[in-house]
Amino acid sequence: MLTGNEIREKFIEFFESKNHRHFESSSLIPDDPTLLLTVAGMVPFKPYFLGQKPAPTPRVTTFQKCIRTNDLDNVGKTARHHTFFEMLGNFSFGDYFKKESIRWSYEFITEVLKIDKNRLWVSVFETDDEAESLWISECNFPKERIVRLGEDDNWWAAGPTGSCGPCSEIYVDLGIKFGGNENSRLGDPDTDDRFIEIWNLVFTEWNRMEDGHLEPLPKKNIDTGAGLERITSVIQGKANNFETDLLFPIVEAMAKVAGIKYGENPKYDYSLKVIADHGRAVTFLINDGVIPSNEGRGYVLRRILRRAIRHGRLLGVKELFLYNIVDVVVELMKGAYPDLATNLKHIKKVVKIEEEKFSNTLDLGIQHVMNAIEEAKIKGEDFLSGEITFKLYDTYGFPYELTEEICNENQIKVYKNEFDQKMEEQRELARNSREVVMEKGQDAFIEAFFDEHGKTIFTGYRSTKETAKILFVKKLEEDKFMVITDKTPFYAESGGQEADFGTIVSSTGSSGVIIDVKKQKDIFMHTVKVVNGIYNLVEGAEVKLAVDENRRAAISKNHSATHLLHKALREVLGTHVQQAGSLVSADKLRFDFNHYEALTDEELEKVERLVNAKISESIFSTIREMPIDEAKKLGAMALFGDKYQDIVRVVSFGEFSTELCGGIHVLNTSEIGLFKIISETGIAAGIRRIEAQTGYHAYETVKSMEKLIDKVSRTLKTESTKLEEKVEKIMEELKSSLKEIEELKSKIATYEVNSLFEQVTEINGVKVLVKGFENKESDSLREIVDKAKDKLGSCVVVLGANNGKAIFAVGVTKDLTSKVKAGELVKQLAILTGGNGGGRPDFAQAGGKEGNKVNEVLEVTKNILKEKL
Ligand code: ALA
Repeated sequence: MLTGNEIREKFIEFFESKNHRHFESSSLIPDDPTLLLTVAGMVPFKPYFLGQKPAPTPRVTTFQKCIRTNDLDNVGKTARHHTFFEMLGNFSFGDYFKKESIRWSYEFITEVLKIDKNRLWVSVFETDDEAESLWISECNFPKERIVRLGEDDNWWAAGPTGSCGPCSEIYVDLGIKFGGNENSRLGDPDTDDRFIEIWNLVFTEWNRMEDGHLEPLPKKNIDTGAGLERITSVIQGKANNFETDLLFPIVEAMAKVAGIKYGENPKYDYSLKVIADHGRAVTFLINDGVIPSNEGRGYVLRRILRRAIRHGRLLGVKELFLYNIVDVVVELMKGAYPDLATNLKHIKKVVKIEEEKFSNTLDLGIQHVMNAIEEAKIKGEDFLSGEITFKLYDTYGFPYELTEEICNENQIKVYKNEFDQKMEEQRELARNSREVVMEKGQDAFIEAFFDEHGKTIFTGYRSTKETAKILFVKKLEEDKFMVITDKTPFYAESGGQEADFGTIVSSTGSSGVIIDVKKQKDIFMHTVKVVNGIYNLVEGAEVKLAVDENRRAAISKNHSATHLLHKALREVLGTHVQQAGSLVSADKLRFDFNHYEALTDEELEKVERLVNAKISESIFSTIREMPIDEAKKLGAMALFGDKYQDIVRVVSFGEFSTELCGGIHVLNTSEIGLFKIISETGIAAGIRRIEAQTGYHAYETVKSMEKLIDKVSRTLKTESTKLEEKVEKIMEELKSSLKEIEELKSKIATYEVNSLFEQVTEINGVKVLVKGFENKESDSLREIVDKAKDKLGSCVVVLGANNGKAIFAVGVTKDLTSKVKAGELVKQLAILTGGNGGGRPDFAQAGGKEGNKVNEVLEVTKNILKEKL
């Protein structure tokens, strides 16, 4: 019996023997902004399918690690749902197509895996006659076991747009004990567990466009995917994927931790399967650099990890266990994915930290859910509203999925769409302020550092200078270091405001510039580029920190202007305007907000004027700390759903603007000087972006506009005050000049044609026009031939031009083509000038290399015509 690892190897070997190149499994983090995770073997190859990049080789085979979370709830309940799974695949980029793909998959299944032919079924797309007949002709596959299915089953696409196509799927019949009767066919009701799909062959030849229509791809491609876990369960004769040797050791290890046996209690089996699956997903996600968070991939990881921990609780396990499961996963998988072994320590550390954090809140959270259920029951309700499920998540960190599971166990309904809506509102608005890029392992470092030293004391609201002590130094690059001090006046990048820059001088004789500051858990990490005394920047040293005041002043102008802009937008456009993101740097500000359409010029002007009016009113800023409820009463604008502490910092500019904000601001709006909008654009459906400048930068922008006006005025030889009048006048003149040119052109053309007709001669009573030109294109020759035929009636027209090369156009009216054929004549002329050609009897064009022979050849033409007519 083949092991899972052997099946993986045999697949690759088989396709290598068919001239495929084996590519390594790609990261679970795709190089594709439209996808959160790698969901199929084809994901790394999307650009080759779409023809955006040439494929490095036409045939590729892979085993690809994948994650899908669309059916998370079913994982553990069913025989074959997974979050993490491996997809075996062979790919053709414009090379072979349906025939080979069908033949080879059949060959691999029946000859390498030796699955009984009589147990196989296949499906093809409802209109794909070709695929069906290939199954019969290439594999001798019995027609009665080929089933045609529609778009839901037999059309495959990685997303709503992009490459896609009909597919053909291969199934194995597990037999009557899994459903149906002797006569059951693939696709019959109640046979889902009986016919299991093991391989999907996608004939990728279409590109679905934004509007839904299909365009053919530049080349026809093959994309196949065979689930390793499924194939293994068939080969090993197991009822579900978790009993295969790919997963069962994890199930057993967990059963041992819980002191139970697999197969004795379906509820326990469910939890064991969840942990086996999630243990793999968690291990691989962290291995690829994902860290638990509340955003994007980090959130996917956190959900999976927490669901696994909760199932540990259901098995009665109170101590930390998941980080030890990582060992089992790595042991099983490191043969195929060697980097797992290298990263083992890191993976375990990340799992352990999250496990500890979550275990503390888990028991409390379960208590809160049970209370909410009790309350609902007392009220006679059989559901928890989205409000409640979101609050459980938001306030107690309790994942929705767990709330849902507990509710299901207690016959209480929950509504995913209500929860999602709340979640989306929160995420959209908080996205910008939460983007923290973390190095691998940083989380663990921060936790440890925080435990030892607590947070950094930030003194930058009242001062730009500070004497501090170095607590930690880490070399980043040759001359770059990360430095943490006990105190700092440096603002760390947050809330859209960029970090302060400045200088650091140590008592031990080193000095440098601070070029970035980041913070995590209120620990400020300065990036220092050392200028002097590289070895003297050491822990324990006393340092003088000084913020670059000019840069900070520019940033604070932009930050305060952002608050004024936010309020001005709400006054001009309406109170639906909410901040969706913001960036405050030294040279400009960028503000994203929701609004359904582009701003008109009038609206933009109103907003700009209002902000400048507030600047010239010289309003003092007031900055206060107060309980959040008090701030809300003041009507402070805040990012809905963002996490604020009980005591918040409130920044106000008189009555005009009040916002919760931790940033640095001007003392008085007059410091901003000038506010100038430089652009307004749309960045997503319903989200607009304004970029603007303040102070000296705004002045520079206005100055360059003035210079442009001056330059244009000088070119047009007028004063800038008369520029508008002058441009209007020039436009008028230009219009009438163009009109005149058109009239003249038409007159010249008529004159030219008329003068030609004076050169018409007669040969044997037939009107003949033979004429040579310098520099005329073939289009013009053709036009003259047509005009001449119209005007002369029965005639032969032979025109030539010397453009360096020779070109000829010959026209013969129909009544004369029995005597002279345009195609034949033009060919003779072309040959005489070193070319060739031909065409219809009534009109033909041709050319030759030797343009200087045109006139000579036209003379000869007259003699030819004398003979023919
Ligand atoms: N890309 C195809 C799938 O995922 C093969 O099913």
